[in-house]
Amino acid sequence: MRVTVSRKAHFNAAHRLYRKDWSDEKNTLIFGKCNNPNFHGHNYELIVSVTGEIDTETGYVIDIKTLKDIIKTEVEDAFDHKNLNVEVPEFKELNPTAENIAVVIYNKIKPKLDSALDVEITLFETPRNFVTYSGK
Ligand code: NI
Repeated sequence: MRVTVSRKAHFNAAHRLYRKDWSDEKNTLIFGKCNNPNFHGHNYELIVSVTGEIDTETGYVIDIKTLKDIIKTEVEDAFDHKNLNVEVPEFKELNPTAENIAVVIYNKIKPKLDSALDVEITLFETPRNFVTYSGK
């Protein structure tokens, strides 16, 4: 029986969407308000879902405390109240779109878990806009 266990988390962060190899006009055309040079913030909501077999001894797929601690270290401590472009090394050269943030989070969390577990990241940038990445 493969079961999915999920943990929700939250972080606030600032970002700016732009490419330095594009003109100001093109950045504004493509990224609109998200290209504001003075940055802007989002209240990101994160769901990390882990799918695997139920352990016959514990009855767990994963101890949710373990997942909670990994999310705290890898995501909350690294991103919360940060300017993603300026303070988070993964986004020095990578546009911090919701899509790219989800991939970065996946790449940070997946190696910390048993390799038999599948991981899916759902990241809400606003209550209505969210992205999903599961490593494929
Ligand atoms: Ni934005």
